[in-house]
Amino acid sequence: MAFDIDMIKKVYANFGSRVDAARKIVGRPLTLSEKILYAHLWDGDPKKAFSRGTDYVDFAPDRVAMQDATAQMALLQFMQAGRPQVAVPSTVHCDHLITAKEGAAIDLPHARTESAEVFDFLSSVSNKYGIGFWKPGAGIIHQVVLENYAFPGGMMIGTDSHTVNAGGLGMVAIGVGGADACDVMAGLPWELKFPKLIGVKLTGKLNGWTAAKDVILKVAGILTVKGGTGAIVEYFGDGATSMSCTGKGTICNMGAEIGATTSTFGYDESMERYLRATDRNEVADEANKIKEYLTGDAEVYTDPENYFDQVIEIDLDTLEPYLNGPFTPDLATPVSQMKVEAEKNGWPLKVEWGLIGSCTNSSYEDLSRAASIANQAISKGLKTKADFGINPGSEQVRYTADRDGFLKTFEDLNATIFTNACGPCIGMWDRTGAEKAEKNTIVHSFNRNFAKRADGNPNTFAFVASPEMVAAIAISGNLGFNPLTDTLTNDKGEEVKLDPPTGDELPKRGFAVEDAGYQAPAADGSKVEVLVSPTSHRLQLLDPFTPWEGTDLKGLKLLIKAKGKCTTDHISMAGPWLKFRGHLDNISNNMLIGAVNYFNDKTDNVKNELTGEYGPVPATQRAYKAAGFGSIVIGDENYGEGSSREHAAMEPRHLGVRAVLVKSFARIHETNLKKQGMLGLTFADKDDYDKILEGDTIDILGLTEFAPDKPLTLVLHHADGTEEQFPVNHSYNAQQIDWFKAGGALNIIRKEAAE
Ligand code: F3S
Repeated sequence: MAFDIDMIKKVYANFGSRVDAARKIVGRPLTLSEKILYAHLWDGDPKKAFSRGTDYVDFAPDRVAMQDATAQMALLQFMQAGRPQVAVPSTVHCDHLITAKEGAAIDLPHARTESAEVFDFLSSVSNKYGIGFWKPGAGIIHQVVLENYAFPGGMMIGTDSHTVNAGGLGMVAIGVGGADACDVMAGLPWELKFPKLIGVKLTGKLNGWTAAKDVILKVAGILTVKGGTGAIVEYFGDGATSMSCTGKGTICNMGAEIGATTSTFGYDESMERYLRATDRNEVADEANKIKEYLTGDAEVYTDPENYFDQVIEIDLDTLEPYLNGPFTPDLATPVSQMKVEAEKNGWPLKVEWGLIGSCTNSSYEDLSRAASIANQAISKGLKTKADFGINPGSEQVRYTADRDGFLKTFEDLNATIFTNACGPCIGMWDRTGAEKAEKNTIVHSFNRNFAKRADGNPNTFAFVASPEMVAAIAISGNLGFNPLTDTLTNDKGEEVKLDPPTGDELPKRGFAVEDAGYQAPAADGSKVEVLVSPTSHRLQLLDPFTPWEGTDLKGLKLLIKAKGKCTTDHISMAGPWLKFRGHLDNISNNMLIGAVNYFNDKTDNVKNELTGEYGPVPATQRAYKAAGFGSIVIGDENYGEGSSREHAAMEPRHLGVRAVLVKSFARIHETNLKKQGMLGLTFADKDDYDKILEGDTIDILGLTEFAPDKPLTLVLHHADGTEEQFPVNHSYNAQQIDWFKAGGALNIIRKEAAE
């Protein structure tokens, strides 16, 4: 579907020489991850070796992928950049805004109506700027990307944390915020700290009930939700090459659950088979020409301890199937021990729902293996004791699975076939009775199982497993059921056992689809009008932020002195606010409502210095803005940790906050503040945090000589008439100071585009 073979040929044309140059400079054999990173340097040929986990490096990604919830702000920003077209191939995928309830036939038309203006906007903006658009129902972003765009050795960024799924086809694919996507689409470099490397050696071969999913469930148990932070996980060994390409995708997908930057596998025959099956012979042929470069050097895999920062070994011959959960994806329990663990911990054994789908596990192979279990249940006289729902990964998978009888099998077992979309995985599940908040258990093949994730009920115990295990457990209705050893009673009262799943890596008769749901962009988008209603509650075109006025900032009101943890969720909450992601003014009504006010230990309750009354943070800030006052936010350590959500920087900017002064920043948020033209400052002496008093009016001095490494001065005018001043630090480089002066990085990009 319009994969860009010319772009891929261009990447491959330089790949070998850049890897050779990097090997020379680094002075040792290279992992695959390093090869891809060094082949994608913004400055072209490698000139120096980078320190893993230390150096920030500019890269040139090959592609950008965006899903509908995050694409809105990314593209609203891109519209500000003044570029006629995106600089790299980019796609938008409508998959997050479709509620699962009755099944695809009813849910999809309903979503199309409910979110029509968002879909129309994304369609028109894609059409205008040369972006491929995948309509609602076309599939889940990461399955569609794997089927159409991912390619061995490529580098991609995407505005979704599971962008990493494309590692299944040998990419370095990384989840980012919309501001990063906007930069890359505007033709700017993308900065990343050169990652550390974790090697996972897979030996043996998957067999019986064990699936690719169990590899990552096991790895999550070993590394925990933080163990992959700042690292690329590279899988290798004969176990890796023996596994299907979509199975590799599943493993890479859930690398997000261990915090990994991304995960990847070396190019092999399973990838070639997948490329050819998905109509990309040309890509496979090109990859074959440089295949020795599209995997790690042999020495790296024979002696991994010398090349990776950490090495894990997993024997697939003996790997057991797992159930991970509840409430966290790293609580790994072998299926054989689940009954005991569940009884010990009071996890409800009765299973209410089995759900198969999500970007993690909705491939043809996944559905075929789950269908083999469903088929057995029917032929052996069993019925599902739990409710059963399926979200196919893409229209191509759905159509082919339908043709090959899998969907009929599921329906014969009373399953509901939901839309090819995220659905319950993103909490877009109108589950009957969830509002009663009853304690209950569900099993699913998704990646995340945090409290409330699927149905909003904090008492839903969600367990993650392979699709075939989900099918078996849904049939048994019992979390403690172990299909390897246990029997079930059928409709004749006989004890029957389920045989291990069987399935097809790829459809024997090939993939088929009538309408994949793709809309190619206009060849010339200059006349295309972008559809945004001025009265919309969900979308709002952005106005450029105003440039710096050229003077020191004086008389700033103290909006809030935040105490303790203040993540991007505290600054810009998710949940019900998701629907305003494309409307900066409306979503700004959640600004800092989760932050704790140092002076009264309350959230969303600060003193309005104009009236002396306490009220919500956004309303107070709007009052300051209306009265012509700028303001400042004070924060504690690691302010802005969490996601790369740019709304957390755009909202204060939009509402007139001028500076954020903290003990320390989470780096991505600090950069986001800079990009939006805000002042992000740190206390030179962290104890000065204690000097900030309620009722202070604050000046920031030194801006007329704003320069790298030169501290600014903060003056506190206390309410009792006394004054104090102290230095505050910043980390702005010359370019970032230009962003500040221009009122934001986009103002500069637009100016350059106009010249
Ligand atoms: Fe969608 Fe869930 Fe994946 S929200 S992109 S299916 S993690």
